[in-house]
Amino acid sequence: MTQDELFKVLVAHCKEYGFIFPSSEIYDGLAAVYDYGQMGVELKNNIKQYWWNAMTRLNENIVGIDSCIFMHPRIWEASGHVGAFNDPLIDNKDSKKRYRADVLIEDFLGKIEEKMNKEVEKGRKRFGEAFNEEQFRATNPNVLREKAKYDEVHGRYKKAEEANDLAEYRQIIIDNNIVCPISGTCNWTDVRQFNLMFSTSMGSTAEGASTIYLRPETAQGIFVNYLNVQKTGRMKIPFGIAQIGKAFRNEIVARQFIFRMREFEQMEMQFFIKPGTELEWFKKWKEQRMKWHVNLGMGAENYRFHDHEKLAHYANAATDIEFQFPFGFKELEGIHSRTNWDLGRHQQYSGRKIEYFDPEEGAAYTPYVVETSIGVDRMVLAVLSHSFKEEKLENGENRVVLSIPAPLAPVKAAVLPLVKKDGLPELAQKVMDELKFDFNCQYEEKDSIGKRYRRQDAIGTPFCITVDHQSLEDGCVTVRERDTMAQERVKIEDLRALIDSKVNLNNLLRNL
Ligand code: GAP
Repeated sequence: MTQDELFKVLVAHCKEYGFIFPSSEIYDGLAAVYDYGQMGVELKNNIKQYWWNAMTRLNENIVGIDSCIFMHPRIWEASGHVGAFNDPLIDNKDSKKRYRADVLIEDFLGKIEEKMNKEVEKGRKRFGEAFNEEQFRATNPNVLREKAKYDEVHGRYKKAEEANDLAEYRQIIIDNNIVCPISGTCNWTDVRQFNLMFSTSMGSTAEGASTIYLRPETAQGIFVNYLNVQKTGRMKIPFGIAQIGKAFRNEIVARQFIFRMREFEQMEMQFFIKPGTELEWFKKWKEQRMKWHVNLGMGAENYRFHDHEKLAHYANAATDIEFQFPFGFKELEGIHSRTNWDLGRHQQYSGRKIEYFDPEEGAAYTPYVVETSIGVDRMVLAVLSHSFKEEKLENGENRVVLSIPAPLAPVKAAVLPLVKKDGLPELAQKVMDELKFDFNCQYEEKDSIGKRYRRQDAIGTPFCITVDHQSLEDGCVTVRERDTMAQERVKIEDLRALIDSKVNLNNLLRNL
């Protein structure tokens, strides 16, 4: 199965098992808006808890807030979003489809990279053990030809990006014959800027109403509460403010399922520091955040840093943590050293002094900020796409399993009476009552035990607990582990400790 096909199967699986539904589905859906179902919301909540506890419990100098989606419209002028939160869009005149010009070019570059990698793989197969990738890349004529093309387009693209040269974006698209995937033609309009903020109006009368925006990031809610939190929490620099909440962007090209949505959730933390210490903190937060990801056990090789070549004018360092999604390595989280730009702008636009008096320095300054910003939905997609597996079993059967890291799994244990009679449901219900206060459990008595195991595998339940006739006599149950399918007899009174040892979020947090 190709990665594309696998991705389609994953999307269907998410719907079939109650993880993610297209929004407003009975009205044919709403583009790039998705609802979380009964399993999805549990997974999402567990991810949020892992992040929240890692930030606010493990760091005594980080506190959380929950600011509103609606904020004063001047905030978005100060933050630069009204003036510059734009994407370059281009339309194909034949298909009437709209695209992001930068994405068309980046996809084109991605295809060239893919071609080079394919050549390298061919070489690896041909030369076997003796294969030297570095030498092959430096000498193989096909790779060199593709590399020259890549460098030429990439160079032009970066220059155009730096100069914000929209005409050059279009020219790159035309010169490289980048066609619309729908019409197959190169009949493009000019490239225009498109502001990504959604607006609405607030006020009861038409005359008195004012335009306000749905926040495109949660970070500004933190900046405008900096003084409140610093004063009421008597916070001393360095300190951080964390927040989880919805953000809205009118994405031009919204695709790849929950990777790019119009309504999504962010987990952001702004760390306020003394000017001059920002690069040290930037390095520390890069390490910390990578550790948080790798700690989940989804393979260190599936993450990489992508340092930004082009920095926003207010930033002096920025990187993305990229994850290997089914459609390649893509941004999962951003870490940015934002200087004192945001607080400085809010000081200027609000007229309020936003400073910190540093007792050690004996002086006041506007703090610098290092930000960590991750999309909850992208994290859900990372977990689901990594966990989804179709396996062929020794007995010839197939099983679909979500090997979700156990502390994040929506359901931790399923309690299954072998048959629906002979007092087994009653005992199973007792087991359920024993466990439900500590873990999210499911009780299931319908269908054969094999079918019930498959259903639990498909939603990623780490443990299935089967109550059988023997259980009535010896007080033991069979515990089946999801990934290995190994089974063991366990005393009912030992169940809680056994499950806890695998699914307790604190086990993950202790390793950070
Ligand atoms: N405050 C900084 C900020 O918002 P960003 O790189 O625009 O930075 C941060 O966004 C993270 O939010 C991204 O790394 C991504 O995980 C998530 N994100 C951004 N746009 C998104 C979208 N349209 N759909 C889903 N997640 C998105």
